[in-house]
Amino acid sequence: MVIAESPKTPIIPITEIEQSAFCQTDDELQAKSLEEEFQAGVRWQKIPISYLKAKPEELDARIAEARARLTEQVVILGHHYQRNEIIRFADFRGDSFKLSQFAASQGKAESIIFCGVHFMAETAVILSQDHQRVILPNLTAGCSMADMAHIDDVLDCWDDLTDVLPNSTTVPITYMNSTAAIKALCGREGGIVCTSSNAAATFEWALGRGDKILFLPDQHLGRNTAVRFGIGLDEMIIWNPFKPLGGNSEEDIDRAKIVLWQGHCSVHTRFSVKQIEEARRQYPDVNVIVHPECYMEVVQAADANGSTETIIKTIEEAPSGTTWAVGTEISLVNRIAQENPDKKVFCLDSVVCPCSTMYRIHPAYLCWILDGLNEGVVVNEITVDDDTKRDAKVALDRMLQVV
Ligand code: 13P
Ligand code: SF4
Repeated sequence: MVIAESPKTPIIPITEIEQSAFCQTDDELQAKSLEEEFQAGVRWQKIPISYLKAKPEELDARIAEARARLTEQVVILGHHYQRNEIIRFADFRGDSFKLSQFAASQGKAESIIFCGVHFMAETAVILSQDHQRVILPNLTAGCSMADMAHIDDVLDCWDDLTDVLPNSTTVPITYMNSTAAIKALCGREGGIVCTSSNAAATFEWALGRGDKILFLPDQHLGRNTAVRFGIGLDEMIIWNPFKPLGGNSEEDIDRAKIVLWQGHCSVHTRFSVKQIEEARRQYPDVNVIVHPECYMEVVQAADANGSTETIIKTIEEAPSGTTWAVGTEISLVNRIAQENPDKKVFCLDSVVCPCSTMYRIHPAYLCWILDGLNEGVVVNEITVDDDTKRDAKVALDRMLQVV
């Protein structure tokens, strides 16, 4: 019998609040000096004044020069949501899955500079070799979705599920967008990590091993994947970490096949069915493609969905002259439009809204990191303690083997 605890006080992650403030801008996306960008009202890591005031063109030249001096000692990884001013310096670009494969295979480089967000850099630490270090150019580049799942709340949830369900096996799956501590829990408890490119394969893996799945922290990716397996909405419950038993009764938990953590992406939940209808009204031959972090209704109203890499490939391989409305982060949509001049590519959301945390990797930070390495100084190294690393690696290795 589980003793009901009093509800916890709900906390909205600061990254989520900042994202909504950031989204109200319809400013264009070209980089300005960091000093000018500071006015956008999000947190930035402190940086020496010379970098703060440097103009983008100056930074560009300084980065190129500093990078060239480091040759093979350094590898720069860039997630597709990075700004153009950063992505042009990436030795490898990719979605979360591809970048984790790169991190696991770049044994030569002493330093992996991860231009992305914190959970990606942590994953690189876990998958890279002991002699390598991983650097995140701006330590405030987090992820509002990852911030919605705290390990203490997840451990409480896991204890509750084990108490309520003594005779069933729940398999935890965590989306890559989560802390190393949550990945470690999945490693210890027979679970796995997934990304948006392999969520279905990991569901299949988990359904073959247990009666239920606990999916963390993105309820939308979890729901969108579960419906692909014919699992009904009445077989899914939401786990609200601020309520006793996640806001469910013991009977609800017992009946459920999928327990979805109450988390979401502040960027992808901006896309709506109404926007898709509007795009179809304006361009009757439009193809709509969205990321699976969008609401289920949006994914179902679209023609296709997939990871950032899938979105890029699908549009690249489409016939010339086709029209694409895309439901994902704006820096990537703009880049796809530039790289496919033979097609019409636009964002479903007409308000310019980059992922505010990905955007924090300003060229000034990359320049600062590279200059430091040239002088033998390491700034912003990301570390993960040995126990967490060992257990999280189990769940990540399972992911790399499943696909
Ligand atoms: P991808 O793995 O599709 O690149 O997604 C990462 C992410 O954070 C999307 O919001
Ligand atoms: Fe996180 Fe959403 Fe940004 Fe992806 S787009 S890094 S899920 S906040």
